[in-house]
Amino acid sequence: MDQDQLKQAAARAALEEIREGMLLGIGTGSTVNHFIDLLGRHQPRLAGVVSSSEASTERLRAIHLEPTTLNETGDLDLYIDGADEATRQGHLIKGGGGALTREKIIAAASRRFICIVDESKLRGVLGEFPLPIEVIPMARAYVSRELVKFGGRPEWRSGFITDNGNEILDVHGLDLLNAAEMERRLNQLAGVVTVGLFTRRPADVLLIAGARGVERLEPGKPA
Ligand code: 5RP
Repeated sequence: MDQDQLKQAAARAALEEIREGMLLGIGTGSTVNHFIDLLGRHQPRLAGVVSSSEASTERLRAIHLEPTTLNETGDLDLYIDGADEATRQGHLIKGGGGALTREKIIAAASRRFICIVDESKLRGVLGEFPLPIEVIPMARAYVSRELVKFGGRPEWRSGFITDNGNEILDVHGLDLLNAAEMERRLNQLAGVVTVGLFTRRPADVLLIAGARGVERLEPGKPA
């Protein structure tokens, strides 16, 4: 199976977690696109959906699901999203698609977060994938200088503007052995809107698609 088929398999496993009447958060990216396509095919009866990006909103509209907003719904039952990297503890790097801010907000406002990935995204320690950080445009150079002090090599995602009108720095080379502490410290830099580390609100469930099927992990659950 190629990577796209594995992404489809993870999306299919996520569909099995959907129950009638749920309020659902929908992430962004190619794995989630497969999930949206499956929603279109199976049309489960949902109480509503909230989308993490304009791109996902457009795709949801194409299957006749009109997203509502978090301000109207209150907390969501379930959030389904992909990731760029994941550990077996449910810690994630997200934001490859640039939707990290809305993704983090929806994850925070969801009772359960299911992350769907193919096995190539699994890591012992995060950080091979450059860490996306959304910044206020006027702070880009300042935040870049600060990130160098953290040992990072920030690269401006030139020409890319987020759905919130901000810019992205993709940071290479950060030591993420203690990713939770790094998330906390980077969050405090003036001009940083969102850090693409999800350790303070990790995934509750990981659905990891591999050659031998989809593994279901619940990192926070006592054994
Ligand atoms: C978007 C994200 C995506 O979840 C992440 O980039 C993974 O994307 P894909 O499913 O296309 O591999 O965080 O901001």
